Amino acid sequence: MRAVDLIHKKRDGGELTASELTYIIDGYCEGDIPDYQMSAWAMAVLFRGMTAAETAALTLAMANSGDQVDLAPIEGIKVDKHSTGGVGDKTTLIIAPLVAAAGVPVAKMSGRGLGHTGGTVDKLEAIEGFQTELSRERFINQVNELGLSVIGQSGNLAPADKKLYALRDVTATVESIPLIASSVMSKKIAAGADAIVLDVKTGSGAFMKTLEQSEQLAQAMVDIGTQVGRNTAAIISDMDQPLGFAIGNALEVKEAIETLQGKGPDDLTELCLTLGAHMTVLGGKAETVEEAKALLREKLDSGAALDKFRQFVAAQGGDGAVADDTGRLPSAPLHIEVKAEQAGYVQAIHAEQLGTAAMLLGAGRATKEAEIDYAVGIVMRKKVGDPVSEGETLAVLHARESGEAANDVAAKVRSAYAISAETPSVRPLLLSIVTADGVSRNSESE
Ligand code: URA
Repeated sequence: MRAVDLIHKKRDGGELTASELTYIIDGYCEGDIPDYQMSAWAMAVLFRGMTAAETAALTLAMANSGDQVDLAPIEGIKVDKHSTGGVGDKTTLIIAPLVAAAGVPVAKMSGRGLGHTGGTVDKLEAIEGFQTELSRERFINQVNELGLSVIGQSGNLAPADKKLYALRDVTATVESIPLIASSVMSKKIAAGADAIVLDVKTGSGAFMKTLEQSEQLAQAMVDIGTQVGRNTAAIISDMDQPLGFAIGNALEVKEAIETLQGKGPDDLTELCLTLGAHMTVLGGKAETVEEAKALLREKLDSGAALDKFRQFVAAQGGDGAVADDTGRLPSAPLHIEVKAEQAGYVQAIHAEQLGTAAMLLGAGRATKEAEIDYAVGIVMRKKVGDPVSEGETLAVLHARESGEAANDVAAKVRSAYAISAETPSVRPLLLSIVTADGVSRNSESE
């Protein structure tokens, strides 16, 4: 086999076999296929696309390129959840204890964040003492005894994806649905779960800007999961504005705890119940999504999910008392109000811009080595559809310092809000559900 022949075949619209795709991935990992040939191949895939069988074979080849986590010593059906990423996304902090309280084991590896705020692991580390590096034995025992553990990603998961993603990033080949789908799913499959629920975001703050593109990506990922024997479902949710009100690590932990206390924002609560319900069905603890939602609602209302969170934090060395007193979380010395310069209704909030503003305050990393300030961030007071009067507070910066830098961030936050006189139409949060049977679109989103 020669790489040039396989590039040729894809360029001309042919379908590559599983052994040809394995040859390409293994050859690239081992250095036998150089970057220039791999870039030509990725560009051919971008233009020609891939069949479902090719996409599944590519995913398996990438998943097999490194370590495979063995979750077999954990009893029950292990269901993982993955979000394609958005601003203010703290769903894992809520869903993990919620579904664990319903009996679904959660054995989750999460990443650190690069960008707006930290990842789930950074957010958990905002809790005093919380350990995200556990031995494999302790991780497995904790899931068997308590029903959940969340640790930092360790080992060498899907190194082929890491190398290929870095190449795609600099060769304008990121925006290919089969390449994105196989990239995400190779890491999920290597992480060992039996079933996967995907939280696919769509809108200005998301990777996929339109609902149609998001549905295609979701279907491609669900088809991969189905082909490799992992039951997979995807929920497409709106990311035209940040989720909840808080952006920033400790601020997001506080909002997650309030949600577990039953006092969270409606959008965040609704999304967590929906994603959690699909996990509960795939985990075999309910027959239907409606039944699962009722079960999870009961776990929230009874305090069982909050209890699970308290025990989980304590089991990983953290201060479990934060579950009852969020005042124990790190907090920033300055609260700077960003005020509206005109009256009207909030038409849109540029989620990515607010995310960048939070990063500039210190909530996220601009480079891999940068330190995160857990305390800082932004709390929105207004969301899309809300009326605003002139001089009213749109959002509050939780900052370490005042001065020119803080003023620049305040201006960025103000300009992220589009305000005008018309009453806006607000699209629903939950837009589509994608399963192996196809896409089911929320009729209110059309
Ligand atoms: N996220 C991933 O993990 N891979 C992609 O290709 C794009 C986004």
